[in-house]
Amino acid sequence: MSSNPTSPEKSPHILVLGMGGTIAGLASQSEDDPRKYQAGQVSVDSLLAHIQSAVPDGIQLVPHQVANINSRNLSDSLLTKLGSTVRDSLANPAVLGIVITHGTDTMEETGLFLQATSGKYAQTLGKRVILTGAMLPANAPQPDGPSNLLDAIRWASTPIDNCPGGIYAVMDGRGCMAMDLAKRHGTALNAPLQDSPSSSVGLINPSWLSGVKALQAVWSEDLPIPKLAEWPWVEILTSHAGARAETINHWLTSDVEGLVLAGSGIGGFHDEWVEPLNQAISHGIALVRTSRTGGGSTYPDIPEKDAPGCMASGTLTAPRARIALQLAINAAKQEKLNGKPLTWQDFFARIASLPEIR
Ligand code: SIN
Repeated sequence: MSSNPTSPEKSPHILVLGMGGTIAGLASQSEDDPRKYQAGQVSVDSLLAHIQSAVPDGIQLVPHQVANINSRNLSDSLLTKLGSTVRDSLANPAVLGIVITHGTDTMEETGLFLQATSGKYAQTLGKRVILTGAMLPANAPQPDGPSNLLDAIRWASTPIDNCPGGIYAVMDGRGCMAMDLAKRHGTALNAPLQDSPSSSVGLINPSWLSGVKALQAVWSEDLPIPKLAEWPWVEILTSHAGARAETINHWLTSDVEGLVLAGSGIGGFHDEWVEPLNQAISHGIALVRTSRTGGGSTYPDIPEKDAPGCMASGTLTAPRARIALQLAINAAKQEKLNGKPLTWQDFFARIASLPEIR
């Protein structure tokens, strides 16, 4: 954070948005186990002050605290606040790029949300938005947060190997598209992206980069950010041995607008659910089928033909499919208000059919 005679907000800078998480967490000094800590305790100003001497010359950083939470408590209202802050900041010519410090537990949801609502905008402006976090609290003996934050700042601010504007994530020396995040481990330092297509942050992998460009070529239009009262209610239900019809019946009398079904294997669900799910469709509840395995793809009409009103999630995991379905239902409602005929399926398909990066 170099000194500047003018207000830092008005001169070219990297905006660092604080959302909380373990990167801003503190372990009690009386505990010998660093896994016992409180997330979201340290301000983003303090996180930056801690790494200030290692920030490359010429990079000016402006911190802004959006929230300071454990990300397991992420809410619709916070996503609206973060999404609006990102879009408004991207529009500011003084903002060269954005880094977001975030808890890793639900970084996956935020990554998909930002890609779907600001991915095209960031790409068009040639600005990078980088999510990062940590698996160890800020006062652990060897915290991973400072190096992740420095990598994210460098990725956001330097013209690295033709890497275009867009929404990315950086953890443990690797970068991926934020929509590819999937936390698959409770403690590993690379947990949010260990199974995601990614590149080293030091040397960009050309085949990963061409996958990014292929995906961006297809993502042609961002979806609207729901206002607080607009977020549709969507739940995730997991199929399992001994699944009961009641699990679905329960929702038929509720205001739920969508259900994401985390099926077994390639996305099949228990026979006990077939009849109640048909009723859910006739009640106008949107259904998306994904796999509880957390990996691979869920294909249309496999293992059984999908009823009209049920879509396969493609490569979207259940948490990502849930955000995608919320955004798709909301986008379809906005279209209807404008007299246009697009359905939630049209919008959901745009996200679920994006090419996979290998
Ligand atoms: C959180 O998601 O806020 C806690 C866990 C983490 O950041 O790794």
